[in-house]
Amino acid sequence: MDVHVADHPLIAHKLTYLRDKRTDSPTFRRLADELVTLLAYEATREVRTEPFEIETPVAATTGIKLANPKPIIVPILRAGLGMLEGMVRLLPSAEVGFLGMIRDEQTLQVSAYANRLPEDLNGRQVFVLDPMLATGNTLVMAIDYLRTKGARDITCVCLLAAPEGIKHVESEMTDSDIPVKIVVGTIDERLNEKGYIVPGLGDAGDRLYGVV
Ligand code: URA
Repeated sequence: MDVHVADHPLIAHKLTYLRDKRTDSPTFRRLADELVTLLAYEATREVRTEPFEIETPVAATTGIKLANPKPIIVPILRAGLGMLEGMVRLLPSAEVGFLGMIRDEQTLQVSAYANRLPEDLNGRQVFVLDPMLATGNTLVMAIDYLRTKGARDITCVCLLAAPEGIKHVESEMTDSDIPVKIVVGTIDERLNEKGYIVPGLGDAGDRLYGVV
């Protein structure tokens, strides 16, 4: 598994304000959006392209354009929604699917409660959005689910990760035939006993959308 930590002072600066408990929801949403756009730049380094002939006002030339089928972006509900606009801004022609997953706060087990995805993801590049890679249970389940639909090229974009979560995803991917890539803003110290990332930023869904 390929884990890419997007080491950049602007990302570190925005993450610091995102983490701060004094940051209100509107500012949190804006910062998350800006961070995703920066991470999307890294995450799309290997987006598939094809040659494209054009004429400039001066001469004919061959450039490139995104290949078909276009990539699909899959935010994991609810907190992944806060990353959608930032990703779509860089990939406006991508399709968007949805995967609803919820974590039981006692057992930390994850279950799917909704999905809206194409039946066949064969040949599609899939970008999964989940701000917090904590235990890794959500990503493991999401990746498994996308694989059953034929996805073979999956990149997960996360704002923060815990080392335990990365290890967990990695251990589940060892016999997997598909390369999974994770692009993350930074890797924090650890998980606490409640499954929160430390120092982290608290509950990403609540900070984006309130405690509902
Ligand atoms: N989900 C969150 O929103 N925050 C954490 O710290 C862990 C999981």
